[in-house]
Amino acid sequence: MNHASWPSPLMRNCISGFLFGASLLSTNVAALAQEAGLTGQDKAADVVQARQLLMDTVEENMMVIDSVVAGKDAPLGDLKARAYLINTLATAFPHLFPPQTKPPSGTEDPGFQTNATLVLWQKFPAFYQSVQDFAAIALDASQTSDMTKFRDYGRQLRAGCDSCHEKFMTPVEGPRQ
Ligand code: HEC
Repeated sequence: MNHASWPSPLMRNCISGFLFGASLLSTNVAALAQEAGLTGQDKAADVVQARQLLMDTVEENMMVIDSVVAGKDAPLGDLKARAYLINTLATAFPHLFPPQTKPPSGTEDPGFQTNATLVLWQKFPAFYQSVQDFAAIALDASQTSDMTKFRDYGRQLRAGCDSCHEKFMTPVEGPRQ
C-alpha cells in the first residue's frame, strides 16, 4: 500500500465521521451536565431530604389514622383529608429516586444519608408497583363515607408501610441523626 494514499478516502470519511460523532457526543454530555432541572445530578442531598420529609409527613398523618384504627374517634372528614394527602404524597414519592441518590457502595461519603436499600433500584418496577398499590388504598380511604370501612383501609395502609419498608429500606433504630 502506498503511504501517500493512507488512510484511504473511505477510511478518512469513516475516521472523520467517528470524530464528528464523538464530538457530538461530548457536546451532548456537556449540555446534559448544564441542563437545568436535573436535580439528581447536582442536588442529590436535597432530593434525598425531599423524599425523607415527604415520608415524615406521611407518618404524621398516618399516626392519626393509626389511632382511629386502634379505636379512638375522630371526625371522618378530617381522616379522609389526611388519607387524600397521603395519596398525593405517595404519587410524587417514587419520582424522588434518581440513581445518583443510591446508598454508596464503597466508603466514599456521598453527602447524604439514605435508608433506602440498593434493592429499590435493582427491583424498581416492584417498588413502583408497591407505591401505586399503597396510593390506591389511600385514595379509596379518602372517598369512603363509612367509618368501619375507613378503619379497614387504615389497617391496609399500615400494612403497606410495613411491607414496603421491609423490602426496600434498612431498619432505622431510633430517630434519624
Ligand atoms: C412503597 C414504599 C413505601 C411505602 C408504601 C411507605 N414508605 Fe416510608 N419509606 C420508604 C423508603 C424507601 C424510605 C427511605 C427513604 C430514604 O431514607 O431515602 C422510607 C422512609 C420512611 C420514614 C423515615 C423518613 C426520614 O426522615 O428518614 C418514615 C417515618 C416513613 N418512611 C414512614 C412511612 C409510613 C408511616 C408509611 C405508611 C403510611 C410509609 N412510610 C409508606 C418507602 C415506603
